[in-house]
Amino acid sequence: SIDDELRWDGELTVTRHDRETDTTFVIRIDSTRLGPASGGTRAAHYPSIGHALADAGKLAGAMTLKMAVSDLPMGGGKSVIALPAPRNRIDSATWTRILDIHAENIDKLEGNYWTGPDVNTNSSDMDQLSRITKYVFGRSVDNGGAGSSAHATALGVFEAMKATARRRGLGTLDGRTVLVQGLGAVGGDVVRLAAQAGARLLVADTDPQRLEAASLAGHTVVPAGEVLRTPCDLFAPCAMGGIIDSAAAASIPTLAVAGAANNILTDAAAGAVLRSRGVLCAPDFVANAGGAFHLVGREVLGWNEDDVVERTLGIGRTLDEVYSLSEERGITTEAAALLLARARLSPASATAAAT
Ligand code: NAI
Ligand code: PHE
Repeated sequence: SIDDELRWDGELTVTRHDRETDTTFVIRIDSTRLGPASGGTRAAHYPSIGHALADAGKLAGAMTLKMAVSDLPMGGGKSVIALPAPRNRIDSATWTRILDIHAENIDKLEGNYWTGPDVNTNSSDMDQLSRITKYVFGRSVDNGGAGSSAHATALGVFEAMKATARRRGLGTLDGRTVLVQGLGAVGGDVVRLAAQAGARLLVADTDPQRLEAASLAGHTVVPAGEVLRTPCDLFAPCAMGGIIDSAAAASIPTLAVAGAANNILTDAAAGAVLRSRGVLCAPDFVANAGGAFHLVGREVLGWNEDDVVERTLGIGRTLDEVYSLSEERGITTEAAALLLARARLSPASATAAAT
């Protein structure tokens, strides 16, 4: 319920409703402990405002952990635009009005929150926001921004897949069966990289056009509803979060999980079930940090493309650290990654964060 959702440990929740478009706007700042909060703008049709608040809160929390574990000088936040209908049913005039209102809200936070692209928003939407507010990452390159973060995200997810397969005893991806759920901006690139590495690709999406393209490229299509029942060596969720709950964790026929989606596991219990079955799971806020390296690196830290690639390739090493800690302590990989992130967020590391 909304009451439960507002009993939240984050720093700030901002909401606004626009009667004309019947749209509700949410910005949640989870933490500014390490710097201004940052995280993308997600647009979706939610069953209720409570669901939109919950999604924004979980996603903002994941951003805090992503920035911390990645050693980026930013906090965590996220925006959710709760649309009156699915995104593809919103006409362009309505969408422009929605973006303008969202930009006004962001501007009122005066730089405590920086947005960027997320599901259902892209670089041209960031261009539109930037007409009203400057607190925007990921504008198009022609408009002075860093452009899409998807390629860097995919590169990092691919590193995560390799590191996870290796640690699970699968060796390289060559000849392994990899199931990619979601063939969008990130998933499409992940498929290409995994195929180049010699993996056998199983692919799922709800969009028939994307499936057709993947099928033409020689990959095997799995019905979207069968993903959690399809045997594979490694499962790469690159669509939406919340797909592995405890029940799915108890039965999913795979040896490893590494993907791009934020909040892949519904809760800590799901992670514990995966661990008990020996399914090695890459914590998403470590695996999908390539996009944050791209946006924050290019637009805040003055990195060039090579710097972004170098830091993104480091995701494999961070995961190795996570996996070793998880083995040493006998805890889930998610809990181990949380320990690494929280060490950086703790008051004791205040001096380190300030420098
Ligand atoms: P996208 O919107 O381009 O692609 C998502 C794809 O998933 C679409 O092709 C869609 O049809 C498909 N899909 C949706 N529901 C599905 C279902 N039930 N079964 C199978 N396919 C389904 O999004 P993008 O940018 O590729 O992001 C994918 C995920 O990665 C999201 O969860 C996003 O939050 C996360 N992520 C993205 C980053 C980025 O830089 N783009 C960075 C970090 C995380
Ligand atoms: N939305 C993406 C993510 O979840 C990219 C992003 C990173 C957007 C950092 C804004 C800031 O990582």
